Amino acid sequence: MNGSASQSALDTAGKGAEKISELFYWMAGGASVIWIVVIGLVIYAIYSRREHPLRMTRWLVIGGGAVVPVIVLTLLLSYGLALLPDLQRPAPAGSPVIEVVGVRWWWRVIYRDAAGDRIETANEIYLPVDQPVEFQLTSEDVIHSFWIPTLGGKVDMMPGRTTRLKLHPTQEGVFSGVCAEYCGTAHSQMRFRVVVTDQASFEEWLVKQGNDLAVPRDRSGGSGPERLLPDATSAPTAQGEQVFLSRGCSACHAIRGTSADGSVGPDLTHFGSRLSIAAGVLDNTPENLALWLEDTHGVKPGVEMPEFEALCDTEIDFLVQFLGSLQ
Ligand code: CUA
Repeated sequence: MNGSASQSALDTAGKGAEKISELFYWMAGGASVIWIVVIGLVIYAIYSRREHPLRMTRWLVIGGGAVVPVIVLTLLLSYGLALLPDLQRPAPAGSPVIEVVGVRWWWRVIYRDAAGDRIETANEIYLPVDQPVEFQLTSEDVIHSFWIPTLGGKVDMMPGRTTRLKLHPTQEGVFSGVCAEYCGTAHSQMRFRVVVTDQASFEEWLVKQGNDLAVPRDRSGGSGPERLLPDATSAPTAQGEQVFLSRGCSACHAIRGTSADGSVGPDLTHFGSRLSIAAGVLDNTPENLALWLEDTHGVKPGVEMPEFEALCDTEIDFLVQFLGSLQ
């Protein structure tokens, strides 16, 4: 049901994550050294307690309880602290800046085009490979945490504050991002996809995202919000648009190029080109989209989107065709 996007902090595809995974292996090694020394001394103490009780106590306290752990932990601390400046260094000026806002339980993603104009999308982030990018993170409601395990560390998203994160992807591919701070019912389903591509494909994608939609319409019947009832003579996508506008979807969702301009829920402009629906929960296929519209709360318990029980199968089919056409 969920795509096979990689989500391991040890299977790295970015500079920050590489450092974190090295630190993990060093810490696991250091912990092993401490464990072996302490357990070795305990075993030795058990077998020699009758002959030299005092000497063993001294060994346990000095060797097992103090000296070896202090040496090993000091080395690990120095190593960890030495990694920090690079992880915390901001991305160089001119790097792409992506604003991400955590919302229960999805992600508002904002890019800027060359002119600085805002391009909003949701639950999917494209990044150019071999280049640092800066994320500016905040929240609209509670504390969330933004984490792409394959690319780098996690950073909290707090309402009323902007936190920053630099990532530097080194491999192309599709990766999984998650919310790493418990934020309520659907926390475990607050996910997103990250697509790392070459620079040219990234720029192409960004230009496309900035374009308003040319929604395929059957012009013969007219179009727009004034025509609210599905007209049997028009194309399924046009009928889907009418269902979208008349059934209240547009109160929460925006689709640039149509009259839908809600801002409470995810922006659905170019929805058809996204890899997942429901914030990384389902792959974006017509079957899954129909399932999502029919059984919204079964797929994602706690989700804020109401279940539209009044939608009949034909309306759902039209909606699926319309949303799929938003390329
Ligand atoms: Cu948002 Cu957990």
